[in-house]
Amino acid sequence: MSTTSSSLPGGTWALGDMTVTRFGYGAMQLAGPGVMGPPADRDAALAVLREAIDLGITHIDTAYAYGPRITNELIREALHPYPGSLHVVTKVGATRDEQGGWPPAREPDQLRRAIDENLESLGLDTLDLVYLRLGDAAGRRPGSLSRAFETLAELRQQGLIRHLGVSNATAEQVWEAHAIAPIVSVQNMYNLAYRDDDELIDRLAAENIAYVPFFPLGGFSPLQSEALSAVAARLNATPISVALAWLLRRSPNILLIPGTSSVRHLRENVAGAGLSLSDEDVAELEKISGQA
Ligand SMILES: NC(=O)c1ccc[n+]([C@@H]2O[C@H](COP(=O)([O-])OP(=O)(O)OC[C@H]3O[C@@H](n4cnc5c(N)ncnc54)[C@H](OP(=O)(O)O)[C@@H]3O)[C@@H](O)[C@H]2O)c1
Repeated sequence: MSTTSSSLPGGTWALGDMTVTRFGYGAMQLAGPGVMGPPADRDAALAVLREAIDLGITHIDTAYAYGPRITNELIREALHPYPGSLHVVTKVGATRDEQGGWPPAREPDQLRRAIDENLESLGLDTLDLVYLRLGDAAGRRPGSLSRAFETLAELRQQGLIRHLGVSNATAEQVWEAHAIAPIVSVQNMYNLAYRDDDELIDRLAAENIAYVPFFPLGGFSPLQSEALSAVAARLNATPISVALAWLLRRSPNILLIPGTSSVRHLRENVAGAGLSLSDEDVAELEKISGQA
C-alpha cells in the first residue's frame, strides 16, 4: 500500500499500523570505520540524523551492534524526544567481537538482553519494529528460526515490541517466521546487481509486507556497471540516483534505507531518488543482473 502523501520520492508505506516514508535512512555508516567505535566527527553524524528529519524522513534503521551501541546513542542524542511520526527500527540476533566480527547471538537470553539494550540506548519503552537478523556476515544460512523468533514473539506479546521482521533470511525462513507471528518487513541484501530476492519481493508485495534492501548502493563496494553509467549519463544523473530510483520503481513494497555519513550525500540521494526512469532505461538496467 504505497501512497504519495509525503513530499519525498516514493510517498509512504503502511508498515503494520505505522506510516513510514518509503525514502528512509540507514544509520550504520554513522559509527566509526568497520562499524566499530565512534565516528571521527560526532557533530557531523548528529547533523546527518537531524537533516534526515528535516527532510521529512520517518523511517530510520539501526542496530545495537553498530558501534556497538554508538549509533543508537547518536540517534538518541540527535533526535530524542522523537517526533511522533518517526519510527526508529532495530535488529537483534548478532553481536560484535573484538575483531569487529558479527557473531550470532540468537539464544533466548541473548535476544532478551538485546531488546533491553536497544530500549535503553534509544530511550524507548517499546521498539516499533525489530528484525531478527539471521545468517552470518557471509550471507544467509538455511535452518529453522523458530526458537529465536518465538522468543521475539513473546516479547511482542509483553508489549516491548510493536512489529516484527526478519533480516538476512531465506524465503523459507521468511514464511516460517510469518507463520509464528505476523511480520511486516523483510530486510535482505538487494540492489541493481544483486537480485536473488526478485521472486520473494513480489510474493511479499502480494501480502502487503515491506521489503527493505540493505546495501541498496552496493554497501562497502559501490555499485559499478557500464549499463548503470550509460543510463546515468543519458539522464544527466548520478549512478546512485539511478540505483535508488530503480528500487522505488521496482516494487511498491520496497522501502529505501541508503546509508551515508554526509549531509550533502543525504540531500543528493533524496533529490536523486525522484528521477523518472523510462521503460527503455529499465530494460537497459535489467542487463546488469542478466534479467533481460
Ligand atoms: N540487515 C543487515 O544485515 C544489514 C547489513 C548491512 C546494512 N544494513 C542496513 O542497511 C543500510 C544501508 O546499507 P549501507 O549503508 O551499508 O550501504 P549502502 O546504502 O548501499 O551504501 C552506503 C555507502 O554509499 C556511500 N554513499 C551514499 N550516498 C552517496 C552519494 N550521494 N555519493 C557518494 N557516495 C554515497 C556512503 O558513503 P558516505 O558516507 O561518504 O556518503 C556509504 O559508503 C545500513 O545503514 C544499515 O542500516 C543492514
